[in-house]
Amino acid sequence: MTYEYLYGEIKSVLGDGARAYCQYLLDKNPEELLFDKREVPDDLLSKHAEYSERIRTGEPIQYVFGYAPFYDLYIDCAPGVLIPRFDTEVLAEEAIKTLPENAYFADLCCGTGCIAAAVLKHREDVFALCLDISDKALECTEKNLKKYGLEGRAETRKFDVFSSWDGLPPLDAILCNPPYVNAKNMMTLPENVKKEPSEALYGGEDGLDFYREIIKKSKNHFKDKTHIIFEIGYDEADALRKLTDGKCVIKKDLSNNDRVCIIRG
Ligand SMILES: C[S@@+](CC[C@H](N)C(=O)[O-])C[C@H]1O[C@@H](n2cnc3c(N)ncnc32)[C@H](O)[C@@H]1O
Repeated sequence: MTYEYLYGEIKSVLGDGARAYCQYLLDKNPEELLFDKREVPDDLLSKHAEYSERIRTGEPIQYVFGYAPFYDLYIDCAPGVLIPRFDTEVLAEEAIKTLPENAYFADLCCGTGCIAAAVLKHREDVFALCLDISDKALECTEKNLKKYGLEGRAETRKFDVFSSWDGLPPLDAILCNPPYVNAKNMMTLPENVKKEPSEALYGGEDGLDFYREIIKKSKNHFKDKTHIIFEIGYDEADALRKLTDGKCVIKKDLSNNDRVCIIRG
């Protein structure tokens, strides 16, 4: 089978997903494959047969390949841990720009550790405490920190946002992409998102449980001034303004949706 033919087959099955698939499997963009009449080696064809079958049955492409691009990193991910989203890069970017010098920050609800890894890589002066309730997530975070040689500036710890915060050290900042999908929207998740852990998505009846808890509990946990950077749902900006008595700044993502809420004081 030629690369050109293989691309046609991938495109007919995956549609818009074909670009990402070609990049993962062949390390090539579709434009490079369109007129390539060379034969695809057998080992790539057998990988293609396995991967395309898994994707056909609904497994997210990032779980199949075991990683997802995030910022300028390739973050390892595995079933049971939320796949990093491009939208979350806005939060990481904001932290890289605004964390004070030598900051000690928490990546709260760290999942794969994508936020901490991107921030630590681009800010060599800062230190992270990565917290999550899920053992699988913490394992993934540790793997990613090691992958980029960042483990010396980070600690991972099992932690439940709704438990006591007494054991947490004083922080300069909290970065957090919490579960924020409300009960109604949980009923209509796309099929591929349903393959991700619901504990990483569900934020309570109105989607705001984690924001309320973190805003309340973090009050006595900053070394100096409050510095929280949250990811929020595209329709949650007004709710966050209310929760903070208007003392927050909302930033948009690349699709022009409200995506980040910054609370500083
Ligand atoms: C939306 S995911 C974010 C993951 C990662 N920060 C990212 O941006 O891709 C939310 C994370 O919160 C964790 N989580 C859920 N409930 C929690 C709780 N009560 N305390 C701490 N972490 C929790 C989940 O395990 C999941 O990893």
